[in-house]
Amino acid sequence: MSEAFRLGIAGLGTVGTGVLRLLADNADLLHMRAGRPIEVAAVSARDRSRDRGIDLASYTWCDDPVALADLDGLDAVVEVIGGSEGPALTLAERALGRGRSVVTANKAMIAEHGFALAQTAEAKGAALLFEAAVCAGTPILQTLREGLVGNRIDRIEGILNGTSNYILSAMERQGEDFDAVLSEAQRLGYAEADPTLDVGGGDAAHKLAILAALGFGVRPHFGEVEVEGIQDIRAADIVQAERLGYSVRLVAMADLEREDGVPARLLQRVRPCLLPADHPLAAIDGPTNAVLAQSDYAGPILIQGAGAGSESTASAIVADVVALARGDARPAFGVPTSSLVQTACADSGEREARYYLRFVVADRPGVLAELAAAMRDARVSIQSLIQEGESVGPEEAGITIALVTHKAPARNIRDARERLKGSPSIVEPPLAMPILMD
Ligand code: HSE
Repeated sequence: MSEAFRLGIAGLGTVGTGVLRLLADNADLLHMRAGRPIEVAAVSARDRSRDRGIDLASYTWCDDPVALADLDGLDAVVEVIGGSEGPALTLAERALGRGRSVVTANKAMIAEHGFALAQTAEAKGAALLFEAAVCAGTPILQTLREGLVGNRIDRIEGILNGTSNYILSAMERQGEDFDAVLSEAQRLGYAEADPTLDVGGGDAAHKLAILAALGFGVRPHFGEVEVEGIQDIRAADIVQAERLGYSVRLVAMADLEREDGVPARLLQRVRPCLLPADHPLAAIDGPTNAVLAQSDYAGPILIQGAGAGSESTASAIVADVVALARGDARPAFGVPTSSLVQTACADSGEREARYYLRFVVADRPGVLAELAAAMRDARVSIQSLIQEGESVGPEEAGITIALVTHKAPARNIRDARERLKGSPSIVEPPLAMPILMD
């Protein structure tokens, strides 16, 4: 009988308990696939007495999760505490520093500290695996690292935040505004009580930085991700986009520019975009995640599935654990850290697109001329203009005007918005969303 692979699990929230359940439910299958039994030897959580519906009596209990880094007899630690710093990071640093492998679902920690952690892992002969950090159980990292290993990938687009996609899809279906749909999503458990990281784009930005590093073979550059959330989108924008033939989605996009075939500049953006109906991400509905990777030999690869939840996340964590138990874990970012290329940040201002712009303006003479002048002075050409409804109440209450522009560099669009800043005609800050054409 081969020796068991022994785990310590730090964090017994929904994900940690999901891992315990999966390991118990599929123990025989996992034994067969890993070639050895997988056992949980020790656990740690904040509150030992909380009823999790799981008998914890057979596990060594640690009040301090960091103790799992030192506990004798463990082969790996699963970190599902969360948070980019604090005990999660201390545990990962300490475990890897002692040559103990770490499996984590922690996107913030990997996006912000993954390179340093991977260096420690390498120096100490340990592994750092984080399939669950991006799209939970939908196996995108393994696909990039293994299935597409023969390909050059220069562009990755994705819908990486289920909460935002759920909200945008519901706004589209129900014709309701952001706040109403967010409240409903919170009531149904799709959105956190504090939804900032999800709807503000930060969660997708963490995942994008990881995808870009692994897919392109470059150092993670989380700090360079340009981020805009979905909070300012209104039901009327979605209706307008639909009339024009587009869906609104929060798209995370990473684009690599090469020089003589070598990665040189990296552009990473998370922002709401208008997608034409035939774009592969336009049909992604509800809390689903999806990633579209443009690879040179295998072509466009679309992978989609659940991006959150206890069971899906547990599935990814267990996949990493089985890789460790089999002894076939790969380097954290697919290649040794010394091979990850240090790229510069590409200038997003040069990127051209058509834009949807929405203004709420006072309904009085000359306002349209003022908008048109700002566009002219910023060298943005207007393709079409839609003024919806009639103004009711005082002219200052505002009326909505939507524009679709011809192709323009992002910097010109910024310039146009800048020119209108402080204008007494502008009732609220304008919304700008690029139209993705393919
Ligand atoms: N809160 C995330 C989402 C899942 O809504 O997709 C965890 O990253």
